[in-house]
Amino acid sequence: MTSVRFEPSGRLRGSVTAPPDKSISHRAALLGAMSLEPVRISNYLRAQDTLSTLDALRAVGALVEDHEDGTVVVRGVGLREAREPGGPIDVGNAGTLMRLLPGWLAAQEGRIFVLDGDSSIRRRPVDRIAEPLRLMGADIRATDGRFPPFVVYGTPLEAITYELPVASAQVKSCVLLAGLAASGTTSVVEPAPSRDHTERMLAGAGVAVTRDGLTVSVTCTDELDAQSLVVPGDLSSAAFVIAAGVLVKGSRLVVDNVGVNWTRTGFLRILKRMGAVVTGDLEAPSSRVAPDEPISDLEVTAGPLVGTVVEAEEVPLAIDELPLVALLGCFAEGETVVRGAQELRVKESDRIAGVVDGLRGLGAAIEATDDGFAVTGAAALRGGTIDARGDHRMAMLGAVAGLASEDGVEVVGMEAAAVSYPGFVDDLAALS
Ligand code: S3P
Repeated sequence: MTSVRFEPSGRLRGSVTAPPDKSISHRAALLGAMSLEPVRISNYLRAQDTLSTLDALRAVGALVEDHEDGTVVVRGVGLREAREPGGPIDVGNAGTLMRLLPGWLAAQEGRIFVLDGDSSIRRRPVDRIAEPLRLMGADIRATDGRFPPFVVYGTPLEAITYELPVASAQVKSCVLLAGLAASGTTSVVEPAPSRDHTERMLAGAGVAVTRDGLTVSVTCTDELDAQSLVVPGDLSSAAFVIAAGVLVKGSRLVVDNVGVNWTRTGFLRILKRMGAVVTGDLEAPSSRVAPDEPISDLEVTAGPLVGTVVEAEEVPLAIDELPLVALLGCFAEGETVVRGAQELRVKESDRIAGVVDGLRGLGAAIEATDDGFAVTGAAALRGGTIDARGDHRMAMLGAVAGLASEDGVEVVGMEAAAVSYPGFVDDLAALS
């Protein structure tokens, strides 16, 4: 395990380019594998999670070329011809891969797939995808009924209308992918909107996708026509740099090429309420990358913050950034409260426990609740040591806390950042 110390920083200046979006990279590669024509993906994320996806897709028969210019070309096997691999598919640490891939595999008639991953993955529930897939006719057997390793026995599927018990883009996407090969029209009803990259990408590949309020539907198809895709920068990764820019006094920085699809920008809306100054082309973004993802450069200026309340309906639109809301709350005037975020307990680590124990250890006044946390702000954070608990976002949270702290922060397990943002420490250094 690598411990890295982040000292209190002088003002941050300059610009960095956001790393490619993790959610969109996973989906683009998967779509490529499900297509018969080659799919060219520009700006694919080369990080642990999304490299796991390329390996998993190779295991089921896709040919994947990883070019030096950053482009990945996936030569797929088509919607119904995934190959049975020789052994378990290793999803590594990637929850998105673990939850999306079975949507495709469940319809591969007569073939059997075992999915497994690292120790964190083995603690993450898969019953949330097994339940709707079973309603479609799939046969899925999980360890203790709900954990990896689990087995997917491919069978013919039938369309369903499924009401999601929790707002989850992963579960929604899994059901929609299964719907591509199921007879009829498959609909998913969300309790609140969640990221919609799958829907945008499928529509771009010629699938009949419709949205009516909180219901999204896809109709069964024979072939996808994706061809070329471009991955925008990842707002969830950029969020750590943005938070550093907001918190470190005197900072003014730019993050280029950030995906600003409104289903991902909840964090920016929360920041605005807290009084932070982050500007960009957000209301009606004029630049887009294929098939349909808006992008913008974001300019960040440090300034004073006030506390805010994040309610349940906002949570899916900022789910991965909520640990940063806790950190920002430490520096804000008054109280910052997050509610309805019990999903944080089943991320790469229990992020309610990790954030509360971690920030308290650095001097924060923060309390856990069942479904979130409450922070009482102070003008400063002392510092100390924080354990990343093998979770990439917790590692980066510790680093940003260090830059904004009085005494510095030692992050134990900093290597976890490589899961989504391998260049994170270098990017911070380039700004200081
Ligand atoms: C993701 C959806 C979210 C998010 C995860 C990526 C996706 O998970 O936390 O990092 O790519 O669909 P849930 O859908 O489980 O909330």
